[in-house]
Amino acid sequence: MHLQAPLLLMAISGIWTWVTADDWQAPADAAAVINPIPSTPEASYGGAAVYRQSCLICHGADGKGDGQGATYLIPKPASFADPTFQRQSDGAIAWKISTGRNAMAGFKTLSDTQRWQVVIYLRSFAPHAASAAGK
Ligand code: HEC
Repeated sequence: MHLQAPLLLMAISGIWTWVTADDWQAPADAAAVINPIPSTPEASYGGAAVYRQSCLICHGADGKGDGQGATYLIPKPASFADPTFQRQSDGAIAWKISTGRNAMAGFKTLSDTQRWQVVIYLRSFAPHAASAAGK
């Protein structure tokens, strides 16, 4: 019986999942960048269009990380409704969108305007924003 190899593989993939599912922090200089676009309804509509086209498949219509494309992903995308997510600066979120990690490729093809607009749109998933919008 050669059980060792599969067991070792399982252990390695378990550790890998644990390591890569840890806190994902943007570098301090990226997190300090101020969103140059004012948070207006127009900017949020622009961000919503980007979201529907490029993000919804994995992050889901409610931003909970439960899109079809995320069914088999490890780690799963965090919920944008999570206060821990919302406590990040716009700069940190924009950096994560550009850089990507694991199953999420970095979105370097978005224009700066699109990237900042989608950050503004992600704020609408915050619990208080949802209740203010009557969602
Ligand atoms: C192929 C599926 C997929 C697509 C498409 C995708 N994402 Fe993600 N996203 C993920 C996964 C998986 C993670 C978690 C990565 C990790 O923690 O290692 C993630 C993480 C994130 C995070 C970081 C959340 C945190 O924990 O701070 C942000 C922000 C984000 N995505 C925004 C976007 C935006 C905006 C788009 C569209 C432009 C997008 N994603 C498209 C799968 C996807």
